[in-house]
Amino acid sequence: MSLTLLQAWQTARARLEAAGLVGPVIDARLLVEAAADATRADIVTDPHRALTADQEASLESYISRREHREPVSHILGRKGFWKIMLTVTPDVLTPRPDTETVVEWVLRDFPEHAAWSVLDLGVGSGAIVLSILAERPAARGLGVDVSEEALAVARENAANLGLAGRLALLRGDWTTGLGEATFDLVVCNPPYIASHVIETLEPEVRDHEPRIALEGGADGLAHYRRLAPEILRVLKPGGRFAVEIGYDQKTAVETLFRDAGARDVQTLRDLGDRDRVVAGVKNPLES
Ligand SMILES: C[S@@+](CC[C@H](N)C(=O)[O-])C[C@H]1O[C@@H](n2cnc3c(N)ncnc32)[C@H](O)[C@@H]1O
Repeated sequence: MSLTLLQAWQTARARLEAAGLVGPVIDARLLVEAAADATRADIVTDPHRALTADQEASLESYISRREHREPVSHILGRKGFWKIMLTVTPDVLTPRPDTETVVEWVLRDFPEHAAWSVLDLGVGSGAIVLSILAERPAARGLGVDVSEEALAVARENAANLGLAGRLALLRGDWTTGLGEATFDLVVCNPPYIASHVIETLEPEVRDHEPRIALEGGADGLAHYRRLAPEILRVLKPGGRFAVEIGYDQKTAVETLFRDAGARDVQTLRDLGDRDRVVAGVKNPLES
């Protein structure tokens, strides 16, 4: 006898719980929805709908992958971020809710209908810059990443969201290769995990996220040391920047940006009330 939607959800939840996953209710629901081509509402309003044999086979495969600690975003190939849905592969960091702090800050301060430019360094899936462009129809963006595979994912996401005409993508090592180009805004979520900490992370991150998206050198700050002067160089006078940081990196990263000449340096907190984003301004009188 085939499983109903409700039974499928209960089974998935029990299996994930037994595998040691914390809080598996949502993961179980997302896997059932995807396998059974159902919505969240379907599970509530039509709980006795039976899964087909193919749907049950898909669910079995999804549960087994999740039991082996593959992230749900990799299993489903997508992840919601801010107000957009993104294609996600093992070649890009799965966008995190913490990173929405950057987007929130930008949308609060940058006008909706003016034409301004944004550079996203380490663009990955395109999460940050595409969320911004989706809500600022006159803005244009450039996304840079050292990973060609990540750029392919960002390109696909830009096309899916109808934003390809306003986002250029470039392979490069941070700002090397940008020539004399300057921007009104620079956003960046660089790799910032100290090397020795990576092995202690949960398997979803340690074993499934790209190392190049995590590795921040011996103390986690290696990329900020390069990025602080480089970001100040590619900003227009009076331009602003926002970089994501680890919860314990506020003082070090603020100092790096102040030493590079940034003004009004401040740290924003995320929804969990942890230090998450260092933002600031380039002196308006400096070229
Ligand atoms: C933490 S991920 C952030 C991805 C995306 N911006 C986000 O917030 O979800 C860091 C990104 O920086 C890229 N990256 C690492 N080193 C880089 C470098 N030297 N130059 C350009 N991009 C780099 C990685 O490939 C990765 O896509």
